[in-house]
Amino acid sequence: MVEGRKILGDPAAIKQQFPIFSEYPELVYLDNAATTQRPQQVINRINNFHQQENATIRRGVYQLSARATQEFEAARSTVANFFKAPQDDCIAFTQGATESVNIVARSIIKEKLKPGDNIVVSLMEHHANFVPWQMLSQATSTELRVVPITESGDLDLDKLNSLIDSRTAVVAIVHISNTLGTINPIKVITQMAHAKEVPILIDAAQSATLYPINLTELDCDFLVCSAHKMFGPFGVGVLYVHPRYHRQVQPYNYGGGIIRSVKVEGTEFLPYPHLLEAGTPNVAGVIGLAEAIRVIKKFDRESLVKQLHKLTQIARQKLADIEGLSLVGNPTLSSSIISFSLAGMHPHDVASFLNEDHIAVRAGQHCTQPLLDYLGWPATVRVSLSIYNNLQDVDRLADSLREMKDFLI
Ligand SMILES: Cc1ncc(COP(=O)(O)O)c(C=O)c1O
Repeated sequence: MVEGRKILGDPAAIKQQFPIFSEYPELVYLDNAATTQRPQQVINRINNFHQQENATIRRGVYQLSARATQEFEAARSTVANFFKAPQDDCIAFTQGATESVNIVARSIIKEKLKPGDNIVVSLMEHHANFVPWQMLSQATSTELRVVPITESGDLDLDKLNSLIDSRTAVVAIVHISNTLGTINPIKVITQMAHAKEVPILIDAAQSATLYPINLTELDCDFLVCSAHKMFGPFGVGVLYVHPRYHRQVQPYNYGGGIIRSVKVEGTEFLPYPHLLEAGTPNVAGVIGLAEAIRVIKKFDRESLVKQLHKLTQIARQKLADIEGLSLVGNPTLSSSIISFSLAGMHPHDVASFLNEDHIAVRAGQHCTQPLLDYLGWPATVRVSLSIYNNLQDVDRLADSLREMKDFLI
């Protein structure tokens, strides 16, 4: 590729970069909100690390260890640069978005909570950005305030604004809903929170890959995401903490790797981000995430997202045309995630039948039980598209659903 020139979206060419599709040529993979597939470049990078570079980081003075340490720290710069963070040391590596939220809750916010304070989350949060706050509020006798959604599946911004007050310790909001696909206006929400001097956490698990995030401009306080939803490996997450909070971060796990000095009398810790990376980190995984980011950066994300939105609109229309099929939510701004239900069939049965046609979708509550309870759906079928999906995939989904309906109902 010519340096500086981005690859435009040809799903067929993109698909070739992901070996799972050569392994299973029939596969229509529509569960990208759960995890994305891995490109060959990322698989090769992780393999090469294990074959040629394997060593623990930080401790060794020998060449292999020094090189692994260098690569690990270079990955931090790659991630910081990808999200336009103000400094490389804003980025800590965790096990995933879930752990990153738990760290913010227990190692930063907990310290500053006082009786009478409140925490603001929304009804459309993934359990990863709901339960840690619920547990924290219960443990500290503070109030958990849950922002409702509108009929279309948008966040109720007026209500959000009215729920944030001088006793709000944090606002924790998802960028893209993993169930409805709603894209929330994170810049507006960040400004809303900051206008009342309240810190804000953005859950970017569903958006970090394709929707460019400029942390310097956005100016949020915390942001979390997971490598495995970004064409990277399992077991690696990102936590971004704005410099104004670095000194307030407490260790999350205690152990080696986060230590300035240990005496029998007491221990002195390294500063953030190192004080969150206790024990031996997932070095190959972190390096794999950096490689995934290099893959993403080769693409023209703006045109890919446009193309993906167009494909999602076509999919929504084709699904809506199926008799007895109800789309769940119709957000003003929606990503490549669609939830639906088919009258007379349990979502799990729909997913099982689709599996017979090699179509992989998710059925259930998608770790958003409060949202589904509110909407009155026991479960939904969820289709989530990514950059390797094409019109043929959408047609196969619609055809298979139609056949299933004719056969069973
Ligand atoms: C919006 C959202 N937040 C958080 C998570 C949790 O990510 P992980 O399981 O990788 O920690 C997910 C996973 O599906 C998600 O969709």
